[in-house]
Amino acid sequence: MRPSAFCNAGPEHGDAHVSQSRARSALSSASCAPRTPGLAVLSSRAGRLARPQEARMSGCAMRNRHCRGAPLTAELFPETRRCHRIAAGAVLLGGWAQSQALALTAGVDAVIASAPWRHMQTPGGRAMSTANSNCGPLGWQSDALGYRYLRTDPESGRAWPAMPAVFWSLAVAAAEEAGYPGFAPDACLLNRYAPGARLSLHRDQDERDAAAPIVSVSLGLPATFLFGGARREDPCHRLPLYHGDVVVWGGPTRFHYHGVLPVPDGHHPLVGRFRINLTFRKVR
Ligand code: SIN
Ligand code: FE2
Repeated sequence: MRPSAFCNAGPEHGDAHVSQSRARSALSSASCAPRTPGLAVLSSRAGRLARPQEARMSGCAMRNRHCRGAPLTAELFPETRRCHRIAAGAVLLGGWAQSQALALTAGVDAVIASAPWRHMQTPGGRAMSTANSNCGPLGWQSDALGYRYLRTDPESGRAWPAMPAVFWSLAVAAAEEAGYPGFAPDACLLNRYAPGARLSLHRDQDERDAAAPIVSVSLGLPATFLFGGARREDPCHRLPLYHGDVVVWGGPTRFHYHGVLPVPDGHHPLVGRFRINLTFRKVR
């Protein structure tokens, strides 16, 4: 694994180059409850002000019994967002997908034309607040039978639409940037969040390939991503995610809990009143 120009925060890197003062003031520096010591912020590039300058978060809107506590206000400087090491093996590539966003949203439209958005049921029988679809050889499915991957869309009986080339190349490049070369995703789950939609804390554990990372691309409205630990009760980092951000997690964090707080209302020039997330996984 080679250190890249963009990101020095691959899993092979230790906690060198930590900027303590930035780490203290930068975002996720805390969980919903106690502060997490030793948060590393790597590869800062002072002076690059390409993105929303500041993220303020307060409260813990996700009424999760493990994620409550005092309101948190955090600031995240753009230079620390560019490549931010969340934990060993987990990296935020701030704005990584921004230059591809138009092509990515066109890809989303093409996928949705063949496999329209739907609200899947949880195994417990509740409709998910996100709308979903899939592309690639395997599609994630949730219903009364549980969570699993299917080769065909149960709504149409046809194979899931192919993964648009721009999806594939972006996911592979982002994984490599984060220290995971050779990523070959065979599944891409599309999540669409209308304002108020959320994703409760969960682990991605329906995939057979535990060595491959998860690559998660955010488009449209901003949201707060929770990134916890191996146990549900572990403290969560809280990351504001913006249009074009990519989060990659694998290695020691591959099965860590994560979730998305209810998406605040807003309007995005390209995506409208939605947040769309693309999650790339290697299942088989
Ligand atoms: C997921 O965990 O499947 C999606 C995460 C996100 O929407 O950011
Ligand atoms: Fe997930």
